[in-house]
Amino acid sequence: MNRTPIIAGNWKMYKTVGEAREFAGVIRNHKLEGAVEMVVCAPFTALSALAEELKGSDVKVGAQNMHYEASGAYTGEISPGMLTDLGMSYVIIGHSERREYFAETDETVNKKAKAAFANGLLPIVCVGENLEQRESGQTKENVREQVIRAVEGLSSEQAKQLVIAYEPIWAIGTGKSSSAEDAQDVIGFIRSTVEDAFDSQVAMQVRIQYGGSVNPQNIASYMGQPDIDGALVGGASLAADSYLQLVQGV
Ligand code: G3P
Repeated sequence: MNRTPIIAGNWKMYKTVGEAREFAGVIRNHKLEGAVEMVVCAPFTALSALAEELKGSDVKVGAQNMHYEASGAYTGEISPGMLTDLGMSYVIIGHSERREYFAETDETVNKKAKAAFANGLLPIVCVGENLEQRESGQTKENVREQVIRAVEGLSSEQAKQLVIAYEPIWAIGTGKSSSAEDAQDVIGFIRSTVEDAFDSQVAMQVRIQYGGSVNPQNIASYMGQPDIDGALVGGASLAADSYLQLVQGV
């Protein structure tokens, strides 16, 4: 099974519209030599400009969150349909920062995953353990629960298109990345969890990224692992040259 690796930048709360346009100007003519999918997930305020600047290029644009309802009295929220309307391809769901600071739960992650598919968006569902869970040997139990709850009620066809990002929380923005072998161990386990939830065909097709202090120097070590299909990258995706080095490192 050949899965296309996916390098997704998660800009978090960084970049003005002008900075996003400048970034797009540098990467938009980059032609992919191998089969790598390039994605940039930006703040809501920059999405429209990015979609415009990257139209016709090999780079897809995504959001970092959304509400699961189609519309309603939800001050400050953005609906799935609004993202589709902007030409978005992807949406990050259940990032640990949203789980920690914005009360995202396994239940809302599941609702958002379903809403994404229903609106033609591909979800990048984030899972991962915190330091305490890692140190007490609960990593796999924790990610298994997160994965099973996230995919509940998805069809096999939807699940095949899903992207899962395994991001150990202790590795995010800390410079302490998981070793490629440890990441492979957990990601292989996530793939077998998907097999339990669906079947082996779905498990072979679902793409699973590693995230947490990935940079142009260590990307190749992750890509050398059989179950790791790319990376979700924060800090190192902010500069256009570094983002392109990540893509070239696949
Ligand atoms: O979603 C990506 C992220 O949480 C990892 O961030 O800065 O460690 O690459 P960073």
